[in-house]
Amino acid sequence: MKSDPKTFHVKSFGCQMNVYDGERMGELMAAQGLVAAEADAADLVILNTCHIRERATEKVYSDIGRLRKDAGKQGRTPMIAVAGCVAQAEGEEIVRRAKVDVVVGPQSYHNLPGLVARAATGLPALDTDMPIASKFGALPARRKVGPSAFLTVQEGCDKFCTYCVVPYTRGAEVSRPWGQVMDEARALVDAGAREITLLGQNVNAWTGEDEAGRIQGLDGLIRALDRLPGLARIRYTTSHPNDMTQGLIDAHRDVGKLMPFLHLPVQAGSDRVLRAMNRSHDRASYLRLLDRVRAARPDIALSGDFIVGFPGETEAEFAETLSLVDAVGYAQAFSFKYSPRPGTPAAAIAAQIAPAVMDDRLQRLQAALNRDQQAFNRATVGRSCDVLVERRGKLPGQMLGKSPWLQSVHLLTGAAIGDLVEVELTAAGPNSLTGSPFALAAE
Ligand code: 5AD
Ligand code: SF4
Repeated sequence: MKSDPKTFHVKSFGCQMNVYDGERMGELMAAQGLVAAEADAADLVILNTCHIRERATEKVYSDIGRLRKDAGKQGRTPMIAVAGCVAQAEGEEIVRRAKVDVVVGPQSYHNLPGLVARAATGLPALDTDMPIASKFGALPARRKVGPSAFLTVQEGCDKFCTYCVVPYTRGAEVSRPWGQVMDEARALVDAGAREITLLGQNVNAWTGEDEAGRIQGLDGLIRALDRLPGLARIRYTTSHPNDMTQGLIDAHRDVGKLMPFLHLPVQAGSDRVLRAMNRSHDRASYLRLLDRVRAARPDIALSGDFIVGFPGETEAEFAETLSLVDAVGYAQAFSFKYSPRPGTPAAAIAAQIAPAVMDDRLQRLQAALNRDQQAFNRATVGRSCDVLVERRGKLPGQMLGKSPWLQSVHLLTGAAIGDLVEVELTAAGPNSLTGSPFALAAE
């Protein structure tokens, strides 16, 4: 039997929504009187896991093994809780395979305190329900946050792309109500946030009723947040091309606080592959959509997600992904080798692609994406913009922040974390830029 834990540590893997959930789990445990500690000293370690690709899933098991071994050397047996999408997908299998104390899914982590108390008495503690009532109402209020904060407004996915586990692990698309989102946004600003990134698996499918009872989309929410005093910047991610409404495109033209950045995954450049993925958009409609976004906001930085080696993908079809990348000119992007996920339709397709072919395609795609990222960064040199200072750099007086286009910018400044500093971008490296603050430049 384990005693009640006094200290805790949360480790989040995977997407930004998990980072957000991990923060809220930490706040929840702190509200129970537990104290945050490092992973190698905590009585309770919560692994907030990701199931999107096989490697992400396997990481959980190797982490549990390492945690146990390190703690064993110190004569400790920490309580281990597995949260997140692996917990949802594998449930009891994790208890069988890794003998962890608590398993809790992404829609039920508000029950963590009860589960931990139960595990402390030696009873099995597993909760992977997807209750109708949202967990959010049961979580403590936001307290202290950094200058750039996440706010989950939408969860789940109804799109059922054939490679993806998200509709199974996160459930159906659900939007948090308008009032709840606005209240949390105000709380985040009061707690120190200058920038809020609205999160959702399909964030641009968000819908709700405003105070006057009018149905609003994400653009309505963004316009309301634009009026929030103290908030300087708004971002949102991740979007689906089919939910990119004209209203949201217009918001990129009209809303001053909405940053010129759009993460709009396309996954592949070939229409046959897009159909096999059940993406419900094609290459031409995606490119037309980007034209409309660029017409509304010419300086917008585009980002995307790509999968190489989807079952049956031929060399010629992969070449269409490369030509789409050439046509768009992404400012940054994420690219992955296809990973068959249990229970998804694509995992059952016979024509799986050989690992060496996937490696080769990923390398070529990443070379093209890196080339475009550098070109984008170089093209912003000479521009003036503000930088939101997020943390200290390595050198004395050096700070690190983000440009409107989500680039990392180093600057020498006396400004504090959370300040917006006007700079001229003076140099570009592959992953970051240098900014020269105007006050300093004038000296
Ligand atoms: N294999 C590889 N990549 C995947 N993604 C989702 N499912 C898989 C999979 N089975 C990628 C997609 C998605 C991103 C979050 O992860 O590109 O947009
Ligand atoms: Fe997965 Fe497709 Fe839904 Fe994105 S849109 S979460 S890739 S099923």
